[in-house]
Amino acid sequence: MERLDKIISNRSGISRKDAKSAISGGKVSVNGNIIRSSDFKVGENDEIFLEGSKISGKAHLYIVLNKPKGYVSATEDPQQKTVLELVPPELFRNGIFPAGRLDKDTTGLMIITDDGDFAHRILAPKKHVPKKYAVTIDLPVTDKMETGFKNGIELSDGICKSAKLLKTGEYTCEVTLSEGRYHQIKRMFGCFGAKVTELHRLSMGGFSLPEDLPEGKCRELTEEELALIEGKVKK
Ligand code: URA
Repeated sequence: MERLDKIISNRSGISRKDAKSAISGGKVSVNGNIIRSSDFKVGENDEIFLEGSKISGKAHLYIVLNKPKGYVSATEDPQQKTVLELVPPELFRNGIFPAGRLDKDTTGLMIITDDGDFAHRILAPKKHVPKKYAVTIDLPVTDKMETGFKNGIELSDGICKSAKLLKTGEYTCEVTLSEGRYHQIKRMFGCFGAKVTELHRLSMGGFSLPEDLPEGKCRELTEEELALIEGKVKK
């Protein structure tokens, strides 16, 4: 159980002071009753409304975004559009951030959350959550690339963990990584003189980008999908 003002501030993004004045001003209801005391205790299953809008009861928020090109994976940027700008107000919550980076021109599966521990669990190389990408390059995909990726490409910041390359066409392939270094796939192909022309993240762990999620749109993840990402259940 937590104080009402604290829960409102954490989950709606307003300051603790503003939460207190909203409560004393009669703008907050819990399970249908107006509550005017900030130290009123609420739990996970209580329904809280602030000025008529429901405040999510969950401790953490997990969103899947189908990232379009042209957005940077940051919480704020003075010049460029960030992926957080694609989160609609009804889903937005203070403290959310992209769990892992995709380049500005990379598209596809991106997770946005306010749960730092979860982000660590799905991103840390030791946790081995595989990330699969569809890649198009400007040269034909070769066996040499496949072997090189498997054996570990040497980049300026060290040798990469073994990665799987599956050829899907003359210039296209799927690459599965278990780490996420800066521009990793682009730099790995760069070692073979090839330039990545299209890059799209298909999946993280056992969870694939939902086919019915249009580009630029996001939605909350289900418990089952979260477990799939972490490899706790198999599909
Ligand atoms: N590798 C890259 O080079 N860019 C991405 O956005 C993701 C993986």
